[in-house]
Amino acid sequence: MEGYHKPVLLREAIDALSVRDAWYIDCTLGDGGHCIELIARGGRVVGLDIDPQALKRVQKRFKDLGIDESKYKLIQGNFRELKDLLNKQTDPSISLRADQKFAGAIFDLGVSSLQLMSPERGFSFAKNGPLDMRMDPGLGVRALDLIKILTRKELYELFSNFGEEKYSWQVASALVSSRGVRTTKELAGLVEGVYRRVGTRNWEIHPATRVFQALRIAVNDELGALETGLEEVKDLIEKNGHIVIISFHSLEDRIVKDTFARWQDQGWGQVLTKKPILPNAQEINENPRARSAKMRVFRL
Ligand SMILES: C[S@@+](CC[C@H](N)C(=O)[O-])C[C@H]1O[C@@H](n2cnc3c(N)ncnc32)[C@H](O)[C@@H]1O
Repeated sequence: MEGYHKPVLLREAIDALSVRDAWYIDCTLGDGGHCIELIARGGRVVGLDIDPQALKRVQKRFKDLGIDESKYKLIQGNFRELKDLLNKQTDPSISLRADQKFAGAIFDLGVSSLQLMSPERGFSFAKNGPLDMRMDPGLGVRALDLIKILTRKELYELFSNFGEEKYSWQVASALVSSRGVRTTKELAGLVEGVYRRVGTRNWEIHPATRVFQALRIAVNDELGALETGLEEVKDLIEKNGHIVIISFHSLEDRIVKDTFARWQDQGWGQVLTKKPILPNAQEINENPRARSAKMRVFRL
């Protein structure tokens, strides 16, 4: 296993939370990069991740680092069910039954390095693996199932809507003609073939990137989870507390931007980022995954 996930916009995100000795929610724990910094600045964190592997790994990391166990509480689950998950907690300091409110929350969306670098999870075409892409292995439908079951038109819509893929129709047609695609490398090869046939040979990012993104979003219902998760978290943050969201593609960023604008119109609080905060050149240089990150902040 490679090193830990490198947190994106770490200083910017944690600064935006104005951390003090109070409870915060990290809705996307991953390898705990943001969470560790939140605790280092004096906060306490309820950390959530949908992926049981992530949770196991972060638990060990926190133990190895000697982080005081009273400073965090880790929960496996989807942030779209945040209130339910917190309601089930018996610890009075974080249980909603004790009318708990939180000082702030962070969402660092998408997949972690752990997920990307595990070929058997099927998130990346850098290594060959089955077309799985479930963040929660308990989910019923894998990317492979979508490819096998959906019609050409449905695949076209999926790649257009969730990948904003220019050659959605050609990719959908190629997939339907060869229903034999089973692995990440096979799918990447098929999309590359489509691009070569339409005469596009020079690409900045691999042509399969958007198709993989679209399948991942569909398998995990990422946009639905984000919309619901934002509404859940809004009610849990105290007055003057902050919600920080780091997103990695325009579909997510649009949901965050529109939701924050609507909340402001409805008098819930204030958007603190008229324009999103972006990583600087040095961060992008050191961590290319940061290149598409956008951070937005709302104050209740
Ligand atoms: C980009 S990583 C977070 C990295 C983390 N901030 C760090 O510094 O290590 C995103 C994490 O969010 C988790 N995740 C994605 N969607 C989720 C959801 N709906 N509910 C809970 N966790 C989710 C993924 O499993 C992944 O581990």
